[in-house]
Amino acid sequence: MNLVVVGSQWGDEGKGKLIDIISKDTDITVRYQGGNNAGHTVVVGNKEYIFHLLPSAILHKGKVCVIGNGVVVDPKALLQEISDLEKKGLKVTEKRFKVSDRCHVVMPYHRVLDGLRETKRKNKIGTTGRGIGPCYSDKVTRCGIRLVDLLNPKVLEEKLKDNLLEKNEIFKKVYGAKGYSFDSIYNEYLGYGKQLKKYICDTVIYLNEAIDKKKSILFEGAQGTFLDIDFGTYPFVTSSNSIVGGVCSGTGVGPTKIDKAIACVKAYTTRVGEGPFPTEFTNRLKDDIRKKGKEYGATTGRPRRCGWFDSVLVRYSVILNGIDELAIMKLDVLDDLEKIKICTAYKYKGKIYKNFPTDFEVIANAKPIYEEMQGWKTSTTGIREFNKLPVNARKYVRRLEKLLKVAVKYVSIGSKRDQIIVC
Ligand code: IMO
Ligand code: MG
Repeated sequence: MNLVVVGSQWGDEGKGKLIDIISKDTDITVRYQGGNNAGHTVVVGNKEYIFHLLPSAILHKGKVCVIGNGVVVDPKALLQEISDLEKKGLKVTEKRFKVSDRCHVVMPYHRVLDGLRETKRKNKIGTTGRGIGPCYSDKVTRCGIRLVDLLNPKVLEEKLKDNLLEKNEIFKKVYGAKGYSFDSIYNEYLGYGKQLKKYICDTVIYLNEAIDKKKSILFEGAQGTFLDIDFGTYPFVTSSNSIVGGVCSGTGVGPTKIDKAIACVKAYTTRVGEGPFPTEFTNRLKDDIRKKGKEYGATTGRPRRCGWFDSVLVRYSVILNGIDELAIMKLDVLDDLEKIKICTAYKYKGKIYKNFPTDFEVIANAKPIYEEMQGWKTSTTGIREFNKLPVNARKYVRRLEKLLKVAVKYVSIGSKRDQIIVC
């Protein structure tokens, strides 16, 4: 069985935890897009692990983790993550970790350009500043440097020289900033190539041979559906296809090999960075839920914006991703509330929107139409069976199921590994 887990909102739905649980029953876990803009937190016992590039399944002994070609790799960040894990006693061998030779490389000028572009923009995106957008831009512009190039000094020299010729002009003339010297980047990146060489391979062949041998694969989405470059709240999005559709182009595994898609759905809504957010809290709930849900970015530490559950948004996600099952995460964060609201439609200029609109003006100004439910005002964190949840909590989950038109398979009621209800 090959399955995909995707975020259904604006990221940070709890994918790290869900993937940690599911990946103990699959053989291989694969990232297919994004880069170290992602931040997936997994709590094991009293240890907390935050993953940015490596799939979190690396925590399970004997499982293989793969970074597919659709991911942009900052080699410095990747090596740091590997060395941090090794310091915690987890050996990252080439048997357990493989990275595609076709991955595009995040270069120092990408990171700096990310910041410079943000300062020039009138409407800031609030990127993570990891160079993700500029790296994907170079990929599409066809001047990108790939991991395979770090293993070939001649090719790297040629490509880097070509890039710096253009980039240094941009740095100087557009941003009034200093350019880069060829030598220092060249030597630094050849060094990364040497260190990563044992992990770099053709992951297309590796993955498809594994499928032929009936191994099971979990494709791990980063970010969320509404940060997708095509379907998200453009331009306040990331630069890759985070939806299930991104799996095929991001790994080289065909669509006929994917059996199931699971949506990771936070029981309320959060967003980091700028951009429209119709159900955002305007009262003190914004602080209460942020505190209770520990809603601070795992990558940048920025406070996350919080709001009510938006079924217009998530229903669109279900459609876009062809979702088979839902995982409702962080239900326990709502434990103390007297009343809970669910957005079921938007209203703008007298018109009702039941489907997620495309027009930016509508999304940015849409007023949510809510239905209200009674809270359960009981702690759910110790519960392990769906039928033992308070009746109002069950009613809330069942209402989400009905609005989203997909069955719930998991309900998470805490950050620890065992705090999960399988329905
Ligand atoms: P995980 O995988 C939440 C957001 C940024 C910004 C926009 C573009 O942890 O769910 P980028 O640096 O990608 O160019 O920034 O996307 N963003 C995320 N928000 N979770 C993430 O990842 C995110 N990755 C990027 O805040 O608004
Ligand atoms: Mg995150």
